[in-house]
Amino acid sequence: MQRLKDKIDHSRLPAHIAIIMDGNGRWAKEKGQDRLFGHYHGVESVRDVVEGCAELGVKYLTLYAFSTENWHRPVNEVSGLMELLVQTIRKETETLNKNNIRLHVIGDLSKMPQNAIDELNESIAITGKNTGLNLVMALSYSSRWELLNAVKKVAQDVQQKKLDPETINENTFHQYLCTANFPDPELMIRTSGEYRISNFLLYQSAYAELYFTDVLWPDFRKENLYEAILDFQSRERRFGKTSEQVMV
Ligand code: IPE
Ligand code: IPE
Ligand code: MG
Repeated sequence: MQRLKDKIDHSRLPAHIAIIMDGNGRWAKEKGQDRLFGHYHGVESVRDVVEGCAELGVKYLTLYAFSTENWHRPVNEVSGLMELLVQTIRKETETLNKNNIRLHVIGDLSKMPQNAIDELNESIAITGKNTGLNLVMALSYSSRWELLNAVKKVAQDVQQKKLDPETINENTFHQYLCTANFPDPELMIRTSGEYRISNFLLYQSAYAELYFTDVLWPDFRKENLYEAILDFQSRERRFGKTSEQVMV
């Protein structure tokens, strides 16, 4: 398995990898277990992939952990996920810090339980000076929420004369998004054989390379990440130009 890793061209790593971690429920069901069992095992995959990205030198990894729409799941699943989040952050912050990983969160945190907000803020502060991998957790996140939020803030700034509508360009607008300080994802991975984006980084992934795998999230490991990166490196990214133009 070491071989896959060795094939990766370190000079052409995706600057930002975003992952839609899907399939925990089906993984648990296959095993005759409760959905939460799948979520607990999904944390193992998170650990492995975070470690994999840090070892490779990937600078940004965004993990879609909980969507705005996921609030509509059964109450026990939602509270179980929040509890798992608190436990995981508490347990892993020291390791994140040791590995020079900086934690960030994007999403509507105001909807999260207070103990989760506190735990996240503490970890964000503790890891705030780290300069290695930026680990971005998307929690209570959806692109439509983010874009509406951005539009509201733009409108307020225009109203307060802090912003001239004529000067708004892509760079200005980017500053109003949750991802203001992050590069756009270059590689977006979705597990579990679903071929959709489910309200994740819709604006930012305009030119992301999409990678879909049937592997269910709790089975996803570094090797699967290496496969996705190698696939990314085999593609020609044309950004609207012709193949001849991008070859030069
Ligand atoms: C992804 O796994 C985790 C979250 C969305 C929180 P799912 O829980 O969606 O698993 P499936 O899609 O039902 O298998
Ligand atoms: C997307 O998975 C959200 C996360 C992985 C957090 P879902 O399981 O919620 O997506 P849909 O409902 O299948 O589109
Ligand atoms: Mg799902």
